[in-house]
Amino acid sequence: MLTIRALDELRKQVATPHGAGRTVAFVPTMGFLHEGHLALVRRARRLGAFTVVSIFVNPSQFGPGEDLERYPRDLDRDSALLSELGVDVLFLPATQDVYPVGCSTWVVVEGITEGLCGATRSVHFRGVATVVVKLLNMVQPDVAYFGRKDFQQLRVVEMAVRDLNMPVKIRGCATVRDTDGIALSSRNEFLSGKERSRARAIPETLAEAARRYVGGERRAGTILEGLGAKLGAAADAVDYFGLFDAGTLAPIEDEEQVSDEPLVALALHIGRTRLIDNIQLGVDEPPDV
Ligand code: PAF
Repeated sequence: MLTIRALDELRKQVATPHGAGRTVAFVPTMGFLHEGHLALVRRARRLGAFTVVSIFVNPSQFGPGEDLERYPRDLDRDSALLSELGVDVLFLPATQDVYPVGCSTWVVVEGITEGLCGATRSVHFRGVATVVVKLLNMVQPDVAYFGRKDFQQLRVVEMAVRDLNMPVKIRGCATVRDTDGIALSSRNEFLSGKERSRARAIPETLAEAARRYVGGERRAGTILEGLGAKLGAAADAVDYFGLFDAGTLAPIEDEEQVSDEPLVALALHIGRTRLIDNIQLGVDEPPDV
């Protein structure tokens, strides 16, 4: 595995497989890798693609007072894991290459960024869309992989790529869960033992909503009945919990019948940690709890 920091060197390395007609696959990350990230990398490797993984803790997607400074980092461990999986290039862009002095261009995806996480993290998706578009322009992959755990992020990236006519396929991959059903996330690191036990309410809630949907329930309020209270009791604060149209991310009101394959999504705080999770009913495997 080559570790590359300079953009011209990256371009040189990627030109060879491109020239030979080989697929170039890309997995953007912020590091502190877990099985969820590694599942994306394995998917790229299964394609037989020339695989590039980036690690860049993107400052512009953290709002004031969020956890940029304490975001966990372990480059040596990440690098060993990626090398073991046969990654071709680990790309570690320099902040000044991503955001040159005077940088004043942003990618703003309207509409679907306003609800869910966008309601409380106002600059987040502008930062995500901008950095992802920049990284895609740098790596120029044929295909890029994102986890479905960040479902809204996946939709934002799909929309940015479509709207900006970028020649890359975006693939969403299943959420990877721990044995207690909690979705893997670099931020789980911050949870104490007791907080982690409280967080089990999240997969239990999603699994119960899925059971009701699979059992034939289609009234939104009944699918979620009692589940908001369960989450509220486990969390210190709930940013949102509800059913959403999986395409537009528009909320589905309690009295409505759900559209096909809606999304149940939530964000909440336990201690100092903000956790998000979701499942698309009838599509995603529910947590096994
Ligand atoms: O999901 C993440 O880790 C980040 O939001 C991403 C896509 C790497 C952009 O910084």
